[in-house]
Amino acid sequence: MTAPTENIKVRRVDFDVSKIIRYYSNNNIFGTHYINAMHIVFPEGEKFFIRSAKRYLDQIKNNPTLVDRVKKFIGQEGVHHKEHEKFWNILEGMGLKPYRLAKIYDTIAFKYLENGLFKLLPKKRAELLALSVTTAAEHFTALLGDGGLRSNPFGDLSPDVKLLLQWHCAEELEHKSVCFDLYQEVGGDYNTRVAGMVIASVLLWFFLFGGQMYFVANDKEKDWKKIPSDFFEFWKAFLNSEGVNNIGKMYLDYYKKDFHPDDHDNYQLAEDFFKEHQAYFEKMGVAV
Ligand SMILES: [Fe+2]
Ligand SMILES: [Fe+2]
Repeated sequence: MTAPTENIKVRRVDFDVSKIIRYYSNNNIFGTHYINAMHIVFPEGEKFFIRSAKRYLDQIKNNPTLVDRVKKFIGQEGVHHKEHEKFWNILEGMGLKPYRLAKIYDTIAFKYLENGLFKLLPKKRAELLALSVTTAAEHFTALLGDGGLRSNPFGDLSPDVKLLLQWHCAEELEHKSVCFDLYQEVGGDYNTRVAGMVIASVLLWFFLFGGQMYFVANDKEKDWKKIPSDFFEFWKAFLNSEGVNNIGKMYLDYYKKDFHPDDHDNYQLAEDFFKEHQAYFEKMGVAV
């Protein structure tokens, strides 16, 4: 099964999240700050994905379909980081210091690690490893997309935030195989693919949960009495959601030599999401 090219659409969405309440996820401190960490980690990560894929665009000689899919992947990721960055000013207004966290993340992940990689390795090796980290991270976002649409682990969210997250989930599913196919097309080997996954696994969870803790620590209005119950409820919801339970097996599939993202049959989840919310997006002036 291959994702038809026409299923990847760049939708110029514009969500209104200006009126979100402080604890917009289930009124839970940990749940909200976990999603707040995503608003910081995803945008810079997506800019890295775009850089890593773009380098290879003019090396694809006889596969116009793949060129088209890579361009649409770049288009979708461009809109994703723009929408998540909308939260930065809102969080700044809440005194949560998102810009400082973004600077710390940028310095560690991109100034030191990404640049260090390019200084340490020959250019071609570094470019391939960067693409393999991107391919692995795209596997993660597809897993999160699957989980987010299948069972809504975010709980009771402000409607616009929920639709923004699920729109992102759906588009991650639509383009989940693009970087993988690009990696294969440019001759990426299995060992580098696994190395990319090890790096992505460590960094993604480090920054997501580190970011969550950063926001909890910087949240001067948190109710200390709610900390133990919110912490327990966040982890209970997170670990018990159907989507998260699937993630373990789907994650490990990536290590199979003959794995392909299309082995996971979940394009339908994205299609169903856009069908269900067609009117909402049309009101925004976006054809789904
Ligand atoms: Fe994305
Ligand atoms: Fe993506």
